[in-house]
This record gives sequence, C-alpha cells and structure tokens, in this order.
Amino acid sequence: MGSVLVTGGAGYIGSHVMAVLAGQGRRCVCVDNFSNSSPEAVARVRSLAPGAIALYEADIRDLAALRAILAKEDCASVIHMAGLKAVGESVEFPERYHDNNVRGTQCLLEALHDSSVRRFVFSSSATVYGIPERVPLDETAPTRPQSPYGENKLEIEGVLAGLAAGDPAWRVINLRYFNPVGAHPSGTIGEDPSDIPNNLMPFVCQTAAGRRERLAIFGADYPTADGTCIRDYIHVMDLADGHVAALRALDSAADGEVMTVNLGTGRGVSVLELVNTFERVNGIRVPRVYSDRRPGDVPVCYADATRARRTMGWSARRTIEDMCRDAWRWQSRNPEGYATAS
Ligand code: NAD
Ligand code: UFG
Repeated sequence: MGSVLVTGGAGYIGSHVMAVLAGQGRRCVCVDNFSNSSPEAVARVRSLAPGAIALYEADIRDLAALRAILAKEDCASVIHMAGLKAVGESVEFPERYHDNNVRGTQCLLEALHDSSVRRFVFSSSATVYGIPERVPLDETAPTRPQSPYGENKLEIEGVLAGLAAGDPAWRVINLRYFNPVGAHPSGTIGEDPSDIPNNLMPFVCQTAAGRRERLAIFGADYPTADGTCIRDYIHVMDLADGHVAALRALDSAADGEVMTVNLGTGRGVSVLELVNTFERVNGIRVPRVYSDRRPGDVPVCYADATRARRTMGWSARRTIEDMCRDAWRWQSRNPEGYATAS
C-alpha cells in the first residue's frame, strides 16, 4: 500500500490524522512549512505510533520541492490540510489567504499531475454554508461564505470538481468540518494556538489553566434555550477517523467521483453547555463573564451527518465529555503547548 501525502500534517488536525494513520501502520509523508505549527508535533506523533512518518519542511507553493518529494516517495493518495485558517485575518489580508490557500492548492495539483496520485481528500469547512437558512445543515444547503477564508474553501472545492470532470482518473472527497475540539487521549498532541485563541475550547482551556483571567461568553441573548450560540463540536479523534474512512471510500469510489461530506456529530451544543461540562468533568472552574455578541456569529449551526454514515460508514462516537476531558489533559500536561518539554 502506498504512502499518504499529508499536507499540513504538523498542524492541529493533521497531527491527529497522522497519529491515527500511523497507528494503523500506514506510512505518512508530511509536508508542512511550519507557518502555524512546530516540528515537535511530528516528533510527538512519532512517539505515539509505530507507522513511519517522513517529514519534509516545504511550502505547498514550491512546485520544485513538491515534485522532488513526489519523485522520491511512493504516495497513493493525498490528504490536503495545509492552509491558513483565521477568519478575521483573511478579511484583513485576502490576497495572502488566496495565495496561500488557493494558489497553494493549484500548485499542489500541478505537482500531483506528474505523479500517479489521483486520490484527494480536502479539508473544507462548514464555513462555506455561511448563515444557515435551516438546521441541521446537509451538503445540499446553499453555500454563501462570509469571509475570504470561506471563499477560498469553496473555490478550492470548485477547482477539484473541475479537475475530476476533466480527468476522471481523479477521485475526490471534500470534508466539511464543523467545530473540531479535543485532543489525542494520551495528552501528547493537541491544539496549540500561537496567539490569543479565537476559538472557544482553547480559550476555555487557557482560562482554566490560569493563563487567561476569564472567558468572555459572546452573547447570552440568542434565540436558543440558554441564550448562547449552538455549534456542532466534534472530537478531533473522530474527525481523524473520518479521514481514514474517506480514504477507504475513495478506494471503492467510481473514477471521476467527487463527494462532499459533512464531518460533524449532528448534535448542537451551546456555549454554556460546553463550558459547564468542562467544569464538571475536569473538576475545575472556568471564570466567565457575559459580553456582547461577536460580530458575524450565527446563532445555531450543526450538521446533518447522514451522508458521512451512508457513504463512508463513519459516525462520530465521542461525547462532549470526552472532548472536554481530552482537551484539558492536553492543556494541563502541556501548559505552554509544544514549547513544554515532553
Ligand atoms: P493548523 O493551522 O493547525 O494546520 C495547518 C497546517 O498547514 C499548519 O501546520 C501550517 O504550518 C501548514 N501550512 C499552512 N500553509 C502552508 C503552506 N503554504 N505550505 C505548507 N504548509 C502550510 O490548522 P488546523 O486546525 O489543523 O486545520 C487544518 C485544515 O483544516 C485547514 O485547511 C483548515 O482550514 C481546515 N479546517 C479547520 C477547522 C478548525 O476549526 N480547526 C475547521 C474547518 C476546516
Ligand atoms: N465563543 C465565546 N467566547 C470565546 C470564543 C468563542 O463565547 O472566547 C463562542 C462564539 O461566539 C461561538 C462559539 O463560542 O458562539 C464557537 O466559537 P468558535 O470561534 O470556537 O467557532 P465558530 O463556529 O464561530 O467558528 C468556527 C471556525 C471558523 C469557521 C466557523 C464556521 O473557527 O474557522 O467555525 O464553520 F469559519
């Protein structure tokens, strides 16, 4: 069986995907420029899993580097996770985002063209749906991204559709992630935001650890049962399993097939429910304060996860309790993230 080329493998989701693949004995070829990650993440994955991981520090916009890697390595498929992902930053620097995310993907595809790799799994996002007309969101819901980042994801999905239409040797799965949280149950790898976290779970963890004074809950007057926003939080290990299921689904897919699949649990959880669950399962306080709504937040967003079950035989298994417990284990064992000695 050929190796899996994993772009962005040193990142939060990539490191967990590699831990699962390598845990099953699959060889991974990780390509990352470490713009938002550290080689330490890959070192830790290696300590967890017996499968081999080849690591290349390279930018996906460097065609010559990608060609050299593909010539050297025997890859059968690619999981493309490399990208910039900060929504606010994408509004500030749309050209930078387009160049890194869209042109980067086109460069990767050009390099793959000269190789035998024709199986492609892409990290897309539920952000492509924009403001939902109704929930749960299935994959046929209209796409109306609200940021350059979301537009990048949709544009890349379009590029991949065009690719497979022009050359049916390709098989593609776009995975639209909902809200990945949590960490590997060992506490060895996890999410390591380089700056002040934008997302809820890392902020909760850092507040519990005392690195932040208190959590601001953005809005308590939404039309939901407790007034706080609802999201579909999915354990990053379930998400990682979803990538293995996607690779399997590509094996039995028809040539030229392009599938788009939500990765979510199908269950909505409020901000307050998540924070209270975190306190309960970890026995630790998370000081919080209610503050204004965050501009652009949608009140309720969760997946219809039926297609993933039907087409890939995959469903999320882990609970909100698991997500909170594992996120805290990672945070408490690595208070400074990957800068903490292992
Ligand atoms: P991350 O920032 O932790 O990982 C992305 C990795 O890609 C990093 O290691 C970074 O160094 C690398 N990278 C970025 N640009 C690169 C380039 N030009 N060349 C080589 N490497 C490059 O982010 P993540 O949370 O692990 O997200 C992985 C993917 O999933 C991204 O494409 C992201 O847009 C997507 N996604 C993430 C979420 C989420 O909430 N975390 C939700 C939906 C989709
Ligand atoms: N929240 C707080 N306080 C915080 C951080 C977040 O109350 O300090 C709230 C937000 O207002 C929101 C919920 O927690 O109601 C979840 O917020 P996140 O930022 O963790 O997640 P979002 O769903 O808002 O955003 C995520 C990804 C984006 C992606 C978007 C849509 O971070 O990249 O989903 O799919 F664009």
